[in-house]
Amino acid sequence: MPELDEQIKRRRTFAIISHPDAGKTTLTEKFLLYGGAIAAAGMVKGKRNMKHAVSDWMEIEKQRGISVTSSVMQFEYDGFCINILDTPGHQDFSEDTYRTLMAADSAVMVIDASKGVERQTKKLFKVCVMRHIPIFTFINKMDRDSRDPLDLLEEIENVLGIQTYAVNWPIGSGKEFRGVYERTADRIAVFSGTSETTAGKYEAAAQYAALGDAAADELISPAQHEKLLEDMELLDGAGSEFDIDAVQRGELTPVFFGSALTNFGVEPFLRDFLSMTPPPLSRRTPDGEIDPFDPAFSAFVFKIQANMNKAHRDRIAFMRICSGKFEANKEVYHVQGQKKMRLSQPQQLMAESREVIEEAYAGDIIGVFDPGLFSIGDTLCAPSKKVTFEGIPTFEPEHFRLVRQLDTMKRKQFVKGITQIAQEGAIQIFRDLEGGMEEVIVGVVGELQFEVLDYRLKNEYNVEVRMEPLTYEFARWLADQTIDPKKLDLTSDTRRVQDMRGNKLLLFSGEWNIAWAEQHNDGLELLDFSKG
Ligand code: G4P
Repeated sequence: MPELDEQIKRRRTFAIISHPDAGKTTLTEKFLLYGGAIAAAGMVKGKRNMKHAVSDWMEIEKQRGISVTSSVMQFEYDGFCINILDTPGHQDFSEDTYRTLMAADSAVMVIDASKGVERQTKKLFKVCVMRHIPIFTFINKMDRDSRDPLDLLEEIENVLGIQTYAVNWPIGSGKEFRGVYERTADRIAVFSGTSETTAGKYEAAAQYAALGDAAADELISPAQHEKLLEDMELLDGAGSEFDIDAVQRGELTPVFFGSALTNFGVEPFLRDFLSMTPPPLSRRTPDGEIDPFDPAFSAFVFKIQANMNKAHRDRIAFMRICSGKFEANKEVYHVQGQKKMRLSQPQQLMAESREVIEEAYAGDIIGVFDPGLFSIGDTLCAPSKKVTFEGIPTFEPEHFRLVRQLDTMKRKQFVKGITQIAQEGAIQIFRDLEGGMEEVIVGVVGELQFEVLDYRLKNEYNVEVRMEPLTYEFARWLADQTIDPKKLDLTSDTRRVQDMRGNKLLLFSGEWNIAWAEQHNDGLELLDFSKG
């Protein structure tokens, strides 16, 4: 089936990760501009506002002007069909951010050149490493005064523990930023701004000169030329060799310098990145790997977005297609529900709109109407296929509150509401080992989720709750679930609890308490995620 192969081969599905304000939105927007998917800058943010107007419980989003949910955008560039997974940042950082990475085949890490590796980048990076996916680094904002490029590479290597290979090298920074030296092409590229073509497509205008050539002195200052020659000598001598296999294994990150805002180096980055990032990867199941080119359809749910329309309590389940082709009118098998079904209103988020689709291929993300059947991690496949993908891990929450209902007569609604919301994956709920559900410890990755929980319990389940902050900061699951937590020697402020699936874990107030637990209990292995 050559058409199927061709369609899958040209797909590239990746996530962009960064600490807030490093320039993720700006870079995404520039990608969309190059792909001709949007006509003018500002559309991505504009689109978010439009989305706010249609979502209902997301009043909170509207009030704060932020997006609680992540989305996906598809566009075409140079023969590639690109799916960009947007990972929510800012206060809306949530478990969804992590889960989105489970659906990506590679990640682009955007780093602010004046700041280096920041907190949220580190956390997201950890998830990428867990999945062994290739990571590409874009060091942004070179048009501002930035840190020394060699220092930045060293920091990435030391803090994140990944080798770096600079694909290009910046010439100056801030007002002195002229462009980059492209190592593979062995040429200096000096950007002279952008021009908008009649088709509304942006192109970065560049002039080129060879390194060491007299013509280079005309494009960049002789001092910059000199410095570049020195830097290159240093880099050639001390830096890692480029090794595409190490890139594919996630052990070496190709690094690109540029400026998303002023379009310096964005299109060359997109081009090189697309040539190095893999087409849809195969996915693991307990019975072996599933090849994306296998014509039988299979997919897994990585995100559920609840109550897009409050009147109908509907939910949209987002799934990543892992193999074959999805056809809207064909029956699929929901493995966990053991049911054949037709997926209703399958849709895809294009750059500017949400469209009902007839077909999609491995690598693509589709959203389907979910009448409450699906859970995060569920598998859907062709009835003949019957595979089950490995579940999505539960990631460590970082904020905890004790939640009780105010009106004890509403116990049933409270339990139902909080359990359903936890099943959707917006929050995690814990209780003491022998505890009931009269009070629940709620753990979240981003604090905004508490507000979402409060709002939804009130509006959808008619339950008022009281939330008390707890001082825990870390959750660690027991790697060996046969251990009796009561027998562990722990500091008095460590709490022994179980999660919704009955997995045992410990809540710690600080890193010091984790170290204590490890020191006082021989061979105790603690994990910062639950395997499912
Ligand atoms: P994020 O999605 O990672 O949170 O970052 P975003 O793209 O929103 O960028 C954060 C701020 O940094 C924005 O400015 C944006 O214009 C600016 N920025 C992004 N890339 C570059 C760059 O290459 N150079 C410079 N100098 N600035 C850059 P803002 O004033 O906060 O927002 P806005 O009002 O411009 O939208």
